[in-house]
Amino acid sequence: MGAGSVGGYVGGCLQAAGVPVHFVGRARTLDGWRTHGLRVTDQDGRDERLAPSALDMGEQPRDGLAPALVLLAVKCGATATAAAQLAAALPAGTPVLSLQNGIGNVEAAHAAAPGLHWLPGMVPYNIAELSPGHLHRGTGGRLAAQDDPALRPWVPVFEAAGLPLRLHTDLRPVQWGKLLLNLNNPVNALSGLPLRAELMQRGYRRVFAALQREAVAALGAAGIEPAQVAAVAPRRLPVVLSLPDGLFQRVAQRMLRIDPEARSSMADDLALGRATEVDALCGEVVRLARAHGRDAPLNERIARLVRAWPAHPRAWPATDLQRELGLR
Ligand SMILES: NC(=O)c1ccc[n+]([C@@H]2O[C@H](COP(=O)([O-])OP(=O)(O)OC[C@H]3O[C@@H](n4cnc5c(N)ncnc54)[C@H](OP(=O)(O)O)[C@@H]3O)[C@@H](O)[C@H]2O)c1
Repeated sequence: MGAGSVGGYVGGCLQAAGVPVHFVGRARTLDGWRTHGLRVTDQDGRDERLAPSALDMGEQPRDGLAPALVLLAVKCGATATAAAQLAAALPAGTPVLSLQNGIGNVEAAHAAAPGLHWLPGMVPYNIAELSPGHLHRGTGGRLAAQDDPALRPWVPVFEAAGLPLRLHTDLRPVQWGKLLLNLNNPVNALSGLPLRAELMQRGYRRVFAALQREAVAALGAAGIEPAQVAAVAPRRLPVVLSLPDGLFQRVAQRMLRIDPEARSSMADDLALGRATEVDALCGEVVRLARAHGRDAPLNERIARLVRAWPAHPRAWPATDLQRELGLR
């Protein structure tokens, strides 16, 4: 549900492994897939193709469908609408695994469609649609989800599809661990640079580190210990990010293993005039801080810059961004 980068990649890998998949997405995406088929590739040499005739797709969840599992892969702002559409078409109790970033999607989905069985998940890697129907995983990692009897039979299926999946008794620390990494999304979007070029500049990394420190402080106040999702432990990340460029490049080789042209999806959203997920990321940090009697002014300010961007589009040099956030 939400056939885009994540839905196309995960669904495509599953179908390539023999799982029947029904893709629900927008006409503009599905038309490209109808013409070119679906191709899933990754940085480790995977390259599989599904012919257009092999794809079962539609713009709505089809009535009468009784899927064993639904994967929700819309952007956070589209969650409630997608949840209501699913509830109208699917049997009560159908398990739905959210593969979205952010923390609150399952709560939002449950509020819109309490009859479905909502489960939180986490995608650690970057996936981009390189050309219509060509979904490429550009970084590594292992999918994660909340442990639940409905998901256990799927673990070997995902494994066989090249999508290793780990179930966690409490996914929240994992979701927060991922959110800490996603705090680079607004920095990247405002920089106007590809991810790798942005991360090569200490000024941008210092902004990213400052947003993380603020989030880690809010998490500490809430008694949440974020899980390690990247190569570096969450509490060490701001230290590593703040290193001088030469040292950072040596220490963070894995973090910099990114396709040179890859950008954050928030950068794409701004460029295409779409709503961003900044409220589900920085906004979540601000809400957590407030709930525990603190402020998160840097996350609040950068979220405001992202929201203001469509009216005043510009690429922010690192020094300007640091000054704007009071970091210089
Ligand atoms: N891409 C990544 O590398 C990555 C990695 C980890 C996590 N994530 C997270 O995964 C989620 C999905 O990201 P993505 O990059 O896959 O987004 P995406 O490429 O924009 O795909 C989502 C697709 O779902 C469509 N959609 C929205 N509501 C729909 C509905 N009711 N019915 C049918 N289609 C609908 C969207 O269309 P519209 O544009 O018209 O809404 C869009 O085409 C986000 O929360 C993201 O943060 C992404």
